[in-house]
Amino acid sequence: MNLFSRYTPLQISIHLYAWSAIIWILFEIFTDSFSINPIQELEQRTGRHAITLLVLSLICTPLHTIFKWNEPLKRRRTLGLYAFMYAVIHVLIFVNFDYGLAWSLIVQTVFEKPYIVVGVITFLLLIPLAITSFDIWKIRLGKNWKRLHKTIYFIASLAVLHYAWSKKGDIFTLSGDIQRPLIYGLILALFLIIRIPAVKKFFASFSIERLFRFQKKNPTAD
Ligand code: HEM
Repeated sequence: MNLFSRYTPLQISIHLYAWSAIIWILFEIFTDSFSINPIQELEQRTGRHAITLLVLSLICTPLHTIFKWNEPLKRRRTLGLYAFMYAVIHVLIFVNFDYGLAWSLIVQTVFEKPYIVVGVITFLLLIPLAITSFDIWKIRLGKNWKRLHKTIYFIASLAVLHYAWSKKGDIFTLSGDIQRPLIYGLILALFLIIRIPAVKKFFASFSIERLFRFQKKNPTAD
């Protein structure tokens, strides 16, 4: 049995993309081309990869709503768990490498910098979602499972706020390195708009089958 008959191209791409950040970091470390500020670089890269995977996990539902493509729905959990894995690495780098497990200093820093408080809240809120992402919890929690997992939109918004705030830019004058977090914020807003029932209904009625039926009835239409 070869790899391609066992896994779909989307599955393979997801695993490759998820591991790419670690592989790239290791490659740069072993070739001596890593940053001159390695701890900050590790913190930033793992944070960015975590938030990107989180946003990718949220794109699965709109992909299904708009294109009626079912497979992304099956890949949400993998993307979400990879996002959590990078969030854990991000936090470990912060507490271990950045602050050498000096807990009193860590607590002091957290409360001195509001963007870190937001990061901590984001991380704590991600934990129950990661734990309950498995099928057994879907059965145990019933309707509450969906309710719990819908909070991911709020959690992702907190992650974007943490990202934007850490950049020390100004969102109104677009100064500083604020563009990237702003793009993540806009993508997230778009996903939320697609979830509005009226918008969802519009996409649901605009199905591919309907388009084909229309084409058959009106062969000259293009
Ligand atoms: C206990 C929780 C967390 C702590 C203590 C923490 C800490 C930090 C720190 C200190 C930075 C600034 C790095 C620098 O620029 O020097 C940072 C940036 C960042 N964090 Fe977190 N973080 C936490 C949770 C999270 C979570 C859960 C996510 C995403 C899901 C996240 C995503 C990011 C991103 C995207 C950046 C900006 C990276 C960049 O500058 O390009 N963080 N975090």
